[in-house]
Amino acid sequence: DAGALVLRAGNGSVTPRIVVLTGAGISAESGVATFRDAGGLWEGHSVEVVATPEGFARDPDTVLRFYDERRRAVASVSPNPAHHALARLESALGDDLLVVTQNVDDLHERAGTRNLVHMHGELARALCTACASRPEWSTDLLDRPACPRCGERTLRPDVVWFGEMPYDLDRIEEAVIACDVFASIGTSGEVYPAAGYVALAAAFGARTVELNLVPSDSAVPFDDVRAGPASALVPDWVDEVLCAP
Ligand code: APR
Repeated sequence: DAGALVLRAGNGSVTPRIVVLTGAGISAESGVATFRDAGGLWEGHSVEVVATPEGFARDPDTVLRFYDERRRAVASVSPNPAHHALARLESALGDDLLVVTQNVDDLHERAGTRNLVHMHGELARALCTACASRPEWSTDLLDRPACPRCGERTLRPDVVWFGEMPYDLDRIEEAVIACDVFASIGTSGEVYPAAGYVALAAAFGARTVELNLVPSDSAVPFDDVRAGPASALVPDWVDEVLCAP
């Protein structure tokens, strides 16, 4: 079974607390490129050039163009059954489910997920390097639009680059420690701190499950490893969790 319901002392609730970590693989079948698969983003682009603060300082236009293209690409695709299944799980579990995504697309939101943390930021926001505001954003940044709050033309993508601090780490670690089930979906487990959450969850007694096209070479083995496309695996897993005896 995917996530045995646990009788929790104290509040008497019988629903499991679940943390789901997602990576680029959950959006692959929507047509959004992953990073490390064949033909992935890091095959056609240099991480140093488009995903580091140094690269942005050296050549901002190339970086702004790269994220403008990705923002437009995401706007032209739709959530797939995996995103919808997680939204269905949230409508059943409410606050007992937290989705932590490494993805910067808004496909989880567009499928209906609300309890969501974008630990690597999001294409749907800009970050003002002058006043640090994070306005919602949907148009190109290459044109150097003015920051809605301070008026400076200093907006960059609100995406966490290599060497920068991810968002909401305390909230994520608290949820991972407290969860009964930790599911990792569509991530290669190459990038920390996300790649360390399975070990943290297991250390605090959670059942861990991986739903991935090919098993990641996780340093800490998952209790349950399922290989296949997310659009098939995730709905089935959600059915199991919701129907667990
Ligand atoms: N269904 C399920 N899993 C899939 C599918 C699919 N259809 N297609 C690919 N995958 C899996 C791949 O097997 C791989 O394990 O998704 C994973 C994608 O791995 P990466 O491309 O490394 O993406 P991710 O793990 O999200 O990268 C993490 O690295 O570059 C940084 O900040 C960037 O958030 C990103 C982080």
